[in-house]
Amino acid sequence: MPQTLSLPTPAARHKAERDVAELRFVRSGLLGASCSAIMALSLYGRGTASSKRSQIARGRYLVQDVGKCGDCHSPHNARGQVVPGENLAGARLDFRPIRSVPGWVATAPPIAGLPTVTVGEAMRLLTQATDKNGRPPAPPMPYYQMSRADAAAVIEYLQSLEPAGK
Ligand code: HEC
Repeated sequence: MPQTLSLPTPAARHKAERDVAELRFVRSGLLGASCSAIMALSLYGRGTASSKRSQIARGRYLVQDVGKCGDCHSPHNARGQVVPGENLAGARLDFRPIRSVPGWVATAPPIAGLPTVTVGEAMRLLTQATDKNGRPPAPPMPYYQMSRADAAAVIEYLQSLEPAGK
């Protein structure tokens, strides 16, 4: 009988990620218990600041290097470079389909500073490809199905950016 390859479902992967996170939490708890309460508190404080930094760095990687969000959401000059100071500031698309695509929109809204959607709306858009009106986003916005952890990192990064025109 042929062997079937069973990949973990997204739900199973999320659970595994949660379990690992919980394990780390338990381990850091044990570490804290062996120190004084004050030491444990200061360790915790430092941990959250640096985990926020690494969350933003991960979000930056997902946006700039994986999702390539700037291909649409950033304006480009004639040499194809992002206009300085306009990263993810929203743009008129500089390409269009070679046949008509229903619902195609010619502009990508600004996403630096996440000025037009709430965190919840952005989370739903990136994990379930459902926009703030409950519909799939118009093309060419890709239908992303990110994990909640990845979407949270993307959102954290976008929020860390200065909104355009400020
Ligand atoms: C191929 C082009 C393209 C890429 C790549 C792209 N987008 Fe978009 N995005 C769009 C367009 C076009 C819209 C407007 C869709 C609509 O009107 O329904 C949009 C809409 C959005 C919105 C909703 C804004 C609002 O006001 O409703 C968010 C948030 C967003 N994109 C985030 C991202 C992120 C984050 C990435 C990368 C991970 C990304 N997009 C990659 C084209 C793109």
